Amino acid sequence: MATTLTDQLEALAEEARSAVAGVSAAEELEALRVRLLGRKEGRLTAVMRELGRLPAEDRPAAGAAANRTKGVITGLIEAKRAELEADGKDAASGTDLTLPGRARWRGARHPVTQVIDEICAVLARLGFTRARGPEAETDWYNFTALNTPLDHPAADMHDTFYLSPGILLRSHTSPVQIRTMQAYRPPIRIVAPGMSYRRDPFDASHAPAFEQLEGLAVDEGVTFVDLKATLAEFARGLFGASAAVRFRPSYFPFTEPSAEVDVSCLLCGGDGCSACKGTGWIEIMGAGMVNPMVFEHVGYDPERYTGFAFGMGPARIAMLRYGIPDIRLLYEADVRFLEQFA
Ligand code: DAH
Repeated sequence: MATTLTDQLEALAEEARSAVAGVSAAEELEALRVRLLGRKEGRLTAVMRELGRLPAEDRPAAGAAANRTKGVITGLIEAKRAELEADGKDAASGTDLTLPGRARWRGARHPVTQVIDEICAVLARLGFTRARGPEAETDWYNFTALNTPLDHPAADMHDTFYLSPGILLRSHTSPVQIRTMQAYRPPIRIVAPGMSYRRDPFDASHAPAFEQLEGLAVDEGVTFVDLKATLAEFARGLFGASAAVRFRPSYFPFTEPSAEVDVSCLLCGGDGCSACKGTGWIEIMGAGMVNPMVFEHVGYDPERYTGFAFGMGPARIAMLRYGIPDIRLLYEADVRFLEQFA
């Protein structure tokens, strides 16, 4: 009896092998699976029912043989299923599974946005919070309140986009200093990234619309030492522990004294290379102590408060960092270029 059952199992496995081999569609395979392994009417089930009629001592071995057969048949069916899917002959879904997959676009932050976020993160550690202001400004916020008379060359129609008399697209983010000081009392520590606009030709080093990032700190007893320490920490946070800053005397109407700030060359570390034109330094921003005239315009007492400010172009910093030779690459929205920074 036990032999008969084993023979039956072997015959069933053999039958399954040839039946599965002849299948060419998924529904066909599923019907076959039901016929062979189905719980109610399946062929294997029928054989298993006979297990009960075996003498008790033969049952364990026969049961194990039945399970093995079940495993064999299941394996045959699964292998066929995989084969059909790979062949792309899955008539049930009508899908050609051999077609190459469609690449999915993965969004990524623009390289300039990445630099801005990083700068804000470094300055956040020093207590600076983000601030913003309008891109359409009055000439008072953009120039006058920043101690820049309207007959200053920067205010000229040639340099600034005027929307209507007295209204312009801000030419820098410095007016956010004014709006912040009007809205809050000291202590103030803000970082204000945003777009600025100038009537520059769109060439390798100029864009008519570009990001700027402004910093401002005002309190009692703020000194130039605080400015230097803040910017040294900024440089280390952004460019690495060995980055150094250097200050050169300069002039801005809204700061006194003013400085041009250089960072040690990111490429050569200060030895001198083509990126830094052999000097070992790269100019990255303007800075200085807030001019008391600016405090007068916002109603702060210049006898009581001092402050520092700085302003830089994140696009330029992104160009330095990633070795981008032409600023237009950053603003042409060519995905092939931008996806390199994902
Ligand atoms: N607003 C200046 C510009 O457009 C940059 C700047 C220089 C901002 C010095 C500052 C500063 O806050 O202190 O070029």
